[in-house]
Amino acid sequence: MRVSVIGTGYVGLVTGACLAHIGHDVVCVDYNVEKVATLQTGKPPIYEPDLTDIMRSERLSFTTDLAAGVGHGDVIFIAVGTPPLPTGESDTRYVEAVARGIGEHIGSDYKVIVNKSTVPVGSGDWVRRLILDAVEHRGAQTSFEVVSNPEFLREGSAVYDTFNPDRIVLGGQSPRAIERMRQLYAPIVTRQFALDPALPAVPVVVTDLASAETIKYAANAFLATKISFINEIANICDRIGADVNQVAQGIGLDSRIGGKFLQAGIGWGGSCFPKDVSALMHIARDYGVPTNLLDATIATNQRQRLQVVYHLQKTLKILKGKTIGLLGLTFKPNTDDLRDAPALDIIAELQRLGAKVKAYDPIVENLDAPVTLVDTPTTLAHSCDALVLVTDWAEFQDLDYGDLARRMTHPIFIDGRNCLNPQRMQQEGFYYQAIGRPSAGQLLWPTVSPTSALVA
Ligand SMILES: NC(=O)c1ccc[n+]([C@@H]2O[C@H](COP(=O)([O-])OP(=O)(O)OC[C@H]3O[C@@H](n4cnc5c(N)ncnc54)[C@H](O)[C@@H]3O)[C@@H](O)[C@H]2O)c1
Repeated sequence: MRVSVIGTGYVGLVTGACLAHIGHDVVCVDYNVEKVATLQTGKPPIYEPDLTDIMRSERLSFTTDLAAGVGHGDVIFIAVGTPPLPTGESDTRYVEAVARGIGEHIGSDYKVIVNKSTVPVGSGDWVRRLILDAVEHRGAQTSFEVVSNPEFLREGSAVYDTFNPDRIVLGGQSPRAIERMRQLYAPIVTRQFALDPALPAVPVVVTDLASAETIKYAANAFLATKISFINEIANICDRIGADVNQVAQGIGLDSRIGGKFLQAGIGWGGSCFPKDVSALMHIARDYGVPTNLLDATIATNQRQRLQVVYHLQKTLKILKGKTIGLLGLTFKPNTDDLRDAPALDIIAELQRLGAKVKAYDPIVENLDAPVTLVDTPTTLAHSCDALVLVTDWAEFQDLDYGDLARRMTHPIFIDGRNCLNPQRMQQEGFYYQAIGRPSAGQLLWPTVSPTSALVA
């Protein structure tokens, strides 16, 4: 099938490359000339495991020419960004521009226009209207239908997720359009490209447009709430002396709860959870529906980011003039995405308190923040008063922590992701503190109760 994908970010590029890999003839369109030039050399402008390999398909091409893209696809994906506005609502101007552009170039042969961007409920009908208006404006004939196909891939495992989805959601009224989408995804639904081809077929959930659009927001809001829940439990554990990792294991084995998304730490970030929860709250406000649970989910997460600062204050007391080393900056491992990363709030707070901040991240080479970026964990540890693990990159499991501890002014380690073994870190010479877990090792000076608002 001929497919066009408009927008070559994390979603559009991965979708386009994976659809080409499974046999479709794909043209990806982006208005960013530099990005398209890079893509045409076969290099992805983002870091995403397996993406370079998948991009080698001869059936995949890139262009800045929207008219060519619209002419090419029997299915046209809209996969542009929908970033948050200061009000929390989704900024749909890029979707709008693409919809108008499709309307300006679409011909009379039947096409399915797919909203893959995460868009406010009602956007399917709105996109249809925008396209029709542009077509009518030039007095042309057309034949198309709009389908909502929300994306659930995770940055860091986006290629894997595309070939191994838990479900595919298709929202729309037209059986013809839904049937075309089923054909498009057939090789994925039948697990031809899955890690385990013996698994049962991928469930395809067919809904109306509004329900498909709501599924995306509800899924992310639920996952964000689950993390905020376990973080609140972690903060209780911290005061009562329980270990949240043990608690999470104990509740996660209950099949009604499930063990995923119960990793306590400094909370969620990235380009999706914060903006999608805010957008859902904005939609609810527009319709007069209170969102007490989602309000609390966001507030808990915002406070949680600074738990590591609270632990630094507890151990180092005054942070002014101290040097703090951050291990990891991206909002999660295996991505270069820094959008709404907890690291950014931690850096700002440490700087406000007068600390000097250094950081090492395996992928980040530039950061627009008051931080000294270094090339290795060893350089990072040198003369630091404390290390804070911010992102749980796999390589942080295997560092020579004994060596790092010896290079530091104070061997203090705050594990913001609860991913290291306390006993091991103690043996390596650290005073180790995670989130909602008892500390390990000896502090060489008395602790104080911080009076900062962070404790609240
Ligand atoms: N990133 C994720 O993990 C993820 C997961 C699921 C859903 N989503 C949703 O998918 C959508 C895309 O997200 P993303 O992270 O890929 O965004 P992104 O910001 O990485 O990429 C968007 C791309 O669209 C291009 N673009 C914008 N306007 C354009 C236009 N008029 N013509 C052509 N290209 C244009 C930009 O140049 C950019 O390359 C968003 O709605 C997002 O919420 C993202």
